[in-house]
Amino acid sequence: MAEAQQDQRDDQIGRANVQDTPELLAYYDELETKNAGALWTVANKIEPWEPVSQSVPVVWRYKELRDDVLRSLKLVTPEKAGRRVVYLSNPGRRDVTAAVGWIYAGLQVMNPGENATAHRHSASAIRFIMEGEGAYTVVDGHKMTLGKNDFVLTPNGTWHEHAVEPDGSTCIWQDGLDIPFVNAMEANFFEVHPDLTEAVAYPIDDMTKTWGNAGLTPVNGEWNKGYSPMFKYEWEPTYEALTKYAACTEGSPFDGVLMEYVNPATNGPVMQTMGASMQMLRPGEHTKSHRHTGSFLYHVAKGSGHSIINGDRYEWCEKDIFCVPSWAWHEHANGSESENAVLFCLSDLPVMRKLGLYREQAFGDNDGRQPLN
Ligand SMILES: [Fe+2]
Ligand SMILES: [Fe+2]
Repeated sequence: MAEAQQDQRDDQIGRANVQDTPELLAYYDELETKNAGALWTVANKIEPWEPVSQSVPVVWRYKELRDDVLRSLKLVTPEKAGRRVVYLSNPGRRDVTAAVGWIYAGLQVMNPGENATAHRHSASAIRFIMEGEGAYTVVDGHKMTLGKNDFVLTPNGTWHEHAVEPDGSTCIWQDGLDIPFVNAMEANFFEVHPDLTEAVAYPIDDMTKTWGNAGLTPVNGEWNKGYSPMFKYEWEPTYEALTKYAACTEGSPFDGVLMEYVNPATNGPVMQTMGASMQMLRPGEHTKSHRHTGSFLYHVAKGSGHSIINGDRYEWCEKDIFCVPSWAWHEHANGSESENAVLFCLSDLPVMRKLGLYREQAFGDNDGRQPLN
């Protein structure tokens, strides 16, 4: 029996507004038997006036999750689990295992001497290191040592392997992948490395040493892949860049001192589907509210404060992770009058921008139907 479509009616010319009748309901039933339907019964739902995110704002508090993450060390081995990860589940996106929108995220834990089998997949990944000593990642033969707040890429199609040195300590990091997006595109492949491990073929940290020098590009540095050759962005120079920039800018009223991680060969985003930024909120800073399309997963790299998302207040402190769904009003506030707060942010902005879907609106400003910039 076709469902009555009363709640899908919009009382405005140009929108679907057809009242059910017995004849129409019979017609809908007939179409359904032929795998078809009348657009006016669903049009207002599938084409809302503005984006309707299924994601809800969530704060994943590290102090609440850390013990559970550590508990998995005793429950499963990386060999059996593949990757020993506690994933972040947005109540509105459980069906696609997303933390927000089309972004998956999790907390991975590894003991000294452990490693996760080398593999590759169509989804692109990042990691953001949270605690521990001796973690490293190998991407296409490039080994990278990892420290707290370092940001690492494992782009679409690259072989990668994660491990902790035998003389290191238990390490935890945040993984972020576009798995739900690639699945929505029905384009996801996964492959385990035939040797189960990956040979290191280059000097340690060579890609960051080659490409990560402020304003300087290697004279023979050729790179034409769709992702950044700088696989690791270290925390120290990132924080230094924010501090220097903060000294000579008022920053954005909506974002404070915000800098994007870029591909040094193109100045574009670090990967084709996901981008990342780091933003500093100076002591006492409270940004103005705005909203934009795109899904945003924040990780508190330093400090504490709160965000107001669609009118609700969410407190956060170092190592907490929280999300801002697409088109949700949001503003951020540093809770300290003396310390900086710094937020790492993973987003799908490269997709939104490339596909012409990015829109932004300041609170109290225009109707948001045109991009502001
Ligand atoms: Fe992976
Ligand atoms: Fe924003």
